[in-house]
Amino acid sequence: MKDILEELDQRRAEAKLGGGQRRIDAQHARGKLTARERIELLLDEGSFEEFDMFVRHRSTDFGIEADRPYGDGVVTGWGTINGRMVYVFSQDFTVFGGSLSETHAQKICKIMDMAMQNGAPVIGINDSGGARIQEGVASLAGYADVFQRNVMASGVIPQISLIMGPCAGGAVYSPAMTDFIFMVRDTSYMFVTGPDVVKTVTNEVVTAEQLGGASTHTRKSSVADGAFDNDVEMMTEMRRLFDFLPLSNRDKAPTRPFFDDPLRIEESLDTLIPDNPNQPYDMKELILKVADEGDFYEIQRDFAGNIITGFIRIEGQTVGVVANQPMVLAGVLDIDSSRKAARFVRFCDAFNIPILTLVDVPGFLPGTTQEYGGVIKHGAKLLFAYGEATVPKVTVITRKAYGGAYDVMSSKHLRGDFNYAWPTAEIAVMGAKGAVEILYRSELGDPEKIAARTRDYEDRFANPFVAAEKGFIDEVIQPRSTRRRVARALASLRGKQLTNPWKKHDNIPL
Ligand code: HXC
Repeated sequence: MKDILEELDQRRAEAKLGGGQRRIDAQHARGKLTARERIELLLDEGSFEEFDMFVRHRSTDFGIEADRPYGDGVVTGWGTINGRMVYVFSQDFTVFGGSLSETHAQKICKIMDMAMQNGAPVIGINDSGGARIQEGVASLAGYADVFQRNVMASGVIPQISLIMGPCAGGAVYSPAMTDFIFMVRDTSYMFVTGPDVVKTVTNEVVTAEQLGGASTHTRKSSVADGAFDNDVEMMTEMRRLFDFLPLSNRDKAPTRPFFDDPLRIEESLDTLIPDNPNQPYDMKELILKVADEGDFYEIQRDFAGNIITGFIRIEGQTVGVVANQPMVLAGVLDIDSSRKAARFVRFCDAFNIPILTLVDVPGFLPGTTQEYGGVIKHGAKLLFAYGEATVPKVTVITRKAYGGAYDVMSSKHLRGDFNYAWPTAEIAVMGAKGAVEILYRSELGDPEKIAARTRDYEDRFANPFVAAEKGFIDEVIQPRSTRRRVARALASLRGKQLTNPWKKHDNIPL
C-alpha cells in the first residue's frame, strides 16, 4: 500500500516538472513564470484543484510517441479568487511550446463544460505556439472544439484571456472570442502568423513586438484590453478585475464592503466645467469622485481615449461606466470609440451590470477617413448596444450633447432610466457656430448680425432646460450632488425588469 501511495507522489512530481528543469529555467530566464506558478498567484492560496494531471497525448507521428509528458502542455482545474469560484487553464510552454494537441484541447473543453454547467467564469492563461504541428488536423479539430465552446459560453459566463507568451494561429482565435484579453509587455505576442511567414508572403520585415506585442494590440488594433509589466502584476490585476464581475449571467455582481458615504457631496464638481465651452477638462475626475473610494478599473485605457470605459462600484455594487473624454479629440464619437464602447455596453448588459453614462460629446467626427471607414455602421453599433440593453441605465450630461451623439449616449429615447443634466449642459442638434452658419448663410458677411444670431441660439439651446421641458431630461442636478443622485437612482433600479421581444438573436451591424 505504501508503495502505491509513494508512486502517486512520484507521478505527481514528474507531472509538475512539465517539459523538464532545463525548459523551466529557460522560461524563468525570459522573465516568465511557469504555468503552475501563474495559477498559484492567480488563485487563493491552496484553493487549486487540478483535473487531468496524468493525461498524455496519443499521437505517433514524427517520433513524438517517444515523448509523452504528463499533462500534455496544459494545467487545468478550478479554484477560488477571494472565495469565488473560477475555472482555469494554463498552458505550459515547456511542453512542446504549449502547443495544442487533441488531448490538450480535451482538457480545456472539460473545464469549459464544467464552468458552463456550474456557472463560473473561465480564465485562460495562454502561452502557446498554436496547433501542435505533429498532430495535423487532430489539433485543428481540437481548436475548433474550444472555439465552439467559447461561442456557447459568450454571454453566459465571463471569459478572460491572459496572453503570457508567444501566441500564434489558433492560440489567438480562442482569446479573440472571449470577453477580455490582457497581455504582458515585452514577453507576450499575438499574431495569426509570425514575422517569418509575414516576410515570405508580403515581403514585410517586422519584429514580433511590432507585429503583435502588447503596445500594438492595446494602442493600434484594440485586440487587447490592457497590458501589464510582468506576470506578477498581471495576476494581481486579474484578481482585482474578477471582483467586479458576476460568476455568470444568472448571477449578480458581488457586493463588496464599502466605506464611502453614498450621499457624499463633492463641492469641487461645481467648478469642473470651464467657463469657455471649448476648453477641455478631465472626465476621469468625475468618474473617480462618483465611485466608491475612487476605485476605477479601466478597460482599453490606451485605445480611443475619446471615450472611457471601465468598472466602478457604487454602494459596493459594480457599475459599468461609459464616458466621453473632452481631453481627447474633444470627446467626439468616431469609429474606434463607438466600437470600444459598444462592446463594453454589451458586456455589461449580458452580465446584469448597470451602466452609468457620462456625456460631453460634440457629435460624430466628420470627414472622409471616417466615412470611408464605415463610421455609419460602427457608430450604429453603440446606438444598437444602448438600445438593446435592459440593465439599469443612468445618464448624466455634463456639457455638450449634440446631434446624433445625444441620442446615442444612453438618451431617454433609448430607454434611459434616469437622465440627469448639469446646469452647464447644452443639448442641441449642433453647436451655435455651425447652426448659425447654416440657418443664416445670407448674413455671413455681417459679423454683428451673426454674433447676435449666435447669442440667440445659445440662449435658446445652450442649456438643459428645453430638453427638461419636454421630459427628455428627468432632472437638472447640481454637479456636487452627482454621486448621491446616481447612487439613489441605481438603488431604485435594483428590481428593474425589462425584456426585449423574443428573437433568435439580433443582427447588430458588425
Ligand atoms: C509543436 C512546437 C510548436 C508547435 C513550438 N513548439 N511551437 N511544437 N507544435 N506549434 C516547440 C518547439 O519545437 C520547441 O521544442 C519548443 O516548442 C519551444 O519553441 P521555440 O521555437 O524554441 O521557442 P521560441 O523561439 O520562443 O518561439 C516560440 C514560437 C515558435 C514563436 C511560438 O516556436 C513558433 O513560431 N512556433 C510555430 C507557430 C505556428 O506557426 N503554429 C501553428 C499555427 S497554425 P523544444 O523541444 O526545442 O523545446 C494554427 C492553426 C489553428 O494554430 C488555426 C485555427 C483558426
